[in-house]
Amino acid sequence: MRSKTSATVDDHRPVATSLSQKLLHWYDQHRRHLPWRAEPGAAADPYRVLVSELMLQQTTVATVTGRFEPFLSRFPDIESLANADESDVLHAWQGLGYYRRARALHAAARDVMSKHQGRLPETAEALRDLPGIGDYTAKAVAAIAFGQPVLPIDGNGVRVLARIFAIETPLPKAANDVRALATAFEPTERPADLAQAVMDLGATICRPQKPLCEVCPWQDECQGRRAGCAESLPKRARKAKRPVRQGVAFLLTRSDGAILFRKRPPRGLLGGLHELPTSTWLPAPLDRDAAIAEAPAQLNWRFHEQPVRHVFTHFTLELDLAEAETQHPPEGLWQSCTALEQLALPTLVKKLLRQAGRM
Ligand code: ADE
Repeated sequence: MRSKTSATVDDHRPVATSLSQKLLHWYDQHRRHLPWRAEPGAAADPYRVLVSELMLQQTTVATVTGRFEPFLSRFPDIESLANADESDVLHAWQGLGYYRRARALHAAARDVMSKHQGRLPETAEALRDLPGIGDYTAKAVAAIAFGQPVLPIDGNGVRVLARIFAIETPLPKAANDVRALATAFEPTERPADLAQAVMDLGATICRPQKPLCEVCPWQDECQGRRAGCAESLPKRARKAKRPVRQGVAFLLTRSDGAILFRKRPPRGLLGGLHELPTSTWLPAPLDRDAAIAEAPAQLNWRFHEQPVRHVFTHFTLELDLAEAETQHPPEGLWQSCTALEQLALPTLVKKLLRQAGRM
């Protein structure tokens, strides 16, 4: 007896084949030209694909577009990346956020050098064994770099397929249903193009809001459109509100203008990056006196009126910025304002320095 899922997948295979053909035809005319993407007919460079896929997790195409080539100039191949110091990799990752991915990329490059003779493995299964490479990224690299017959489905892909098949289950379960159906699309012809075509359709036509259904190559087949509910899919479970944490960031200046920084612990949030010393980040509301007790020196701290806000995945951080100068600098990492680019600074710290007019 066939399982429920396999019956569904088999049922969808003929329609998936015809949808794929239509989509590839559309892609041939409307594909985006992106720095990491091979031009039509050209072979993709697996290293560029791997780097781009890690950068594109949780970061927009617009942000990655400006940062991809500088990273590639600094680490032009997997060997140069594997041989680099982690601090240099984190430095080159600045502005992309979610630094865990930079460490995963670095660790994967080292594994490829030490266990795979410098060549990326080609199948999704083998790619998934590299550190920090999950199911989606393994499939994306396998399809785009090596033409393996798999279809990676990220959040955009979930939206596109939830609409086409009018899947009403709310997220996150909708994503499982969609991924099960997506196996019906697993292509033997042009897997790289099909994977990127679904991405382009999700980004340019089947957008979260105001989808451009009237120019969609799948408009005739789209069950969501027919039911008049495409834009509302996939349904979201109501989100818990993101908690707020508060603290104080201390900008301490020495008489020669240098600023006191510290390095965060190697693992965890913003691991290994540089920051201004701060008090402990605690659930709001802020107790300024308790926070000042954690300052790097007991001085007359002047507070800025506006806190700096930064949204992390699991909480929002609000840091009050306090400034002081010292004639008796404590031991620490003092950095001249003119050499800040030598430090790996997360966006949060750049926001603080900008607020203080130091960047
Ligand atoms: N999002 C994730 N991977 C992508 C890719 N290769 N091209 C465009 N957008 C993407």
